[in-house]
Amino acid sequence: MNMIELIKSRRNIKKFRSEQVDETVIKNWLNAAAMAPNHRMTEPWEIIFIGSETREKLNHKSNFGNAPTLFAVLSRHGATKVESEENVAATACFIQNFNLAAWSEGVGTFWSSIGITGQNRDLLKVPEHFDLLGVLAVGYPEMIPDPKPRTPIENKLTYLP
Ligand SMILES: Cc1cc2nc3c(=O)[nH]c(=O)nc-3n(C[C@H](O)[C@H](O)[C@H](O)COP(=O)(O)O)c2cc1C
Repeated sequence: MNMIELIKSRRNIKKFRSEQVDETVIKNWLNAAAMAPNHRMTEPWEIIFIGSETREKLNHKSNFGNAPTLFAVLSRHGATKVESEENVAATACFIQNFNLAAWSEGVGTFWSSIGITGQNRDLLKVPEHFDLLGVLAVGYPEMIPDPKPRTPIENKLTYLP
């Protein structure tokens, strides 16, 4: 699959098979994800792997589609608001790199914004000086949804003289 096909075929997966994804392989994708652009080499991302005890407490409605692996992705605050925003942008690039690396090897991800509330931040032990960008559920897809149509990009283009 070439890069364009990879990007276009990726889906947010909501139902996973129970089969474990090898931890070494996940770390390999995380290392690839860490090649994301990041201003001044802040490398603002941190990963918290979520074990079964904590997962139960999160009480997610679909139990994250029964994905075998779950982790939270955090983005460190910068010294200024602008730096923090840049760090969030870099961490979003990190997440999408991870999503695509996994997808290239047949593994899906479910990006969930659970955890953004105070209660879940506490459960996930997110330090105060971090944004929580979400929880990623990772596993082999049980079901791959149809693509959700996008607005033609022509509607999003502006040209300045
Ligand atoms: C920051 C962020 C938070 C998201 N949170 C959720 C979520 O809480 N629940 C959910 O079902 N999908 C969540 N998604 C996934 C989007 O719903 C999904 O990407 C979108 O519907 C398009 O589907 P696709 O990724 O399969 O093309 C999130 C995506 C992003 C970027």
